[in-house]
Amino acid sequence: MQNQTTERQVILGIENLSKFFGKKQVLHNISFDTYAGEVFGFLGPNGAGKTTLIKTVVGHLMIDDGNVSICGKTLKKDFEGAMANVGGIIESPEFYKYMSGYDNLLQYARLRGVEDEARVKEVVHLVGLDNRIHDKVGKYSLGMRQRLGVAQAILHRPKLLVLDEPTNGLDPAGIKELRNILKRIAHEEDASVLVSSHLMSEMELMCDRVGVIVGGNLIDVKPIDELVSSTAMDKSDFIFETGDGAAVFALLDFIPAPGKTLHENGDVELVIPKANERELLARINREVVQAGIDLYSVSRKENKRLEDVFMELTGSEGDDQIG
Ligand SMILES: Nc1ncnc2c1ncn2[C@@H]1O[C@H](COP(=O)(O)OP(=O)(O)OP(=O)(O)O)[C@@H](O)[C@H]1O
Ligand SMILES: [Mg+2]
Repeated sequence: MQNQTTERQVILGIENLSKFFGKKQVLHNISFDTYAGEVFGFLGPNGAGKTTLIKTVVGHLMIDDGNVSICGKTLKKDFEGAMANVGGIIESPEFYKYMSGYDNLLQYARLRGVEDEARVKEVVHLVGLDNRIHDKVGKYSLGMRQRLGVAQAILHRPKLLVLDEPTNGLDPAGIKELRNILKRIAHEEDASVLVSSHLMSEMELMCDRVGVIVGGNLIDVKPIDELVSSTAMDKSDFIFETGDGAAVFALLDFIPAPGKTLHENGDVELVIPKANERELLARINREVVQAGIDLYSVSRKENKRLEDVFMELTGSEGDDQIG
């Protein structure tokens, strides 16, 4: 930590964090840091412990064991000091629907002791709501409300912005927009943004780095592109378009079930090891044709679906098996 010129600035520091509900341990010795200027994704299946961790970071839940610090201030020793650097949306943000977005923000700014109206205008611009900010919130789409929530959360210039599943209910365009906003906040405000999600595809759109949590254990932390490629590298994904998908599916009894899918349109999708891809393809082609089934096309999917990568990372051992 000494040579600060080369080190990135740590904003959130989590050290050996554990959390129990009664006797049940839901976070196991979690440690990771997030840095200024990055969007960090916290990725895990339902029940993995994402909300628990996030609520602990924003001080809604007590720390049972370990340490959480924000801008060098630990929650245990200087709770107020640490919290002064945090903004967040944990559940969906509440607004007065009969008031404009702008008036909602002004009201909240006063509550938070932000006296500076220029800052209100600045956050409106950051979240791209300039054109609609004087409309009543009741007329906002879900995506706009979410953006207003982000604007509200950053009014007091927090160094750490925390959002639990911010893309819930947003369409892909909305997710992209939110991604751009979060990146802008990370870069322009030099903040650290922590978001959680159970969807890897969303994380890929939004984050610079991800931490994968399964059953309360942090199993990996790396840049999102590395995570995707490291797990997708050794497998190939093919789509078989044939005259009888169900028959082909049954015929391929030598491919283990998790690697094959019969799609509703009759296409059969196979995920097979790259190492013996050629032999397997030749064998499949042979067997399909020998069974008298028409084979129209075999196409390689460019990238294995991200969700498959995620399942591979997290799914093989269920949540309740770990810990
Ligand atoms: N207040 C509570 N009391 C007891 N157990 C709880 C409580 N809150 C959460 N849990 C348990 O802790 C575990 C982690 O829950 P958490 O809500 O953090 O998961 P999550 O990753 O946010 O899941 P989701 O994707 O469904 O939001 C789950 O097993 C859950 O049942
Ligand atoms: Mg949750």
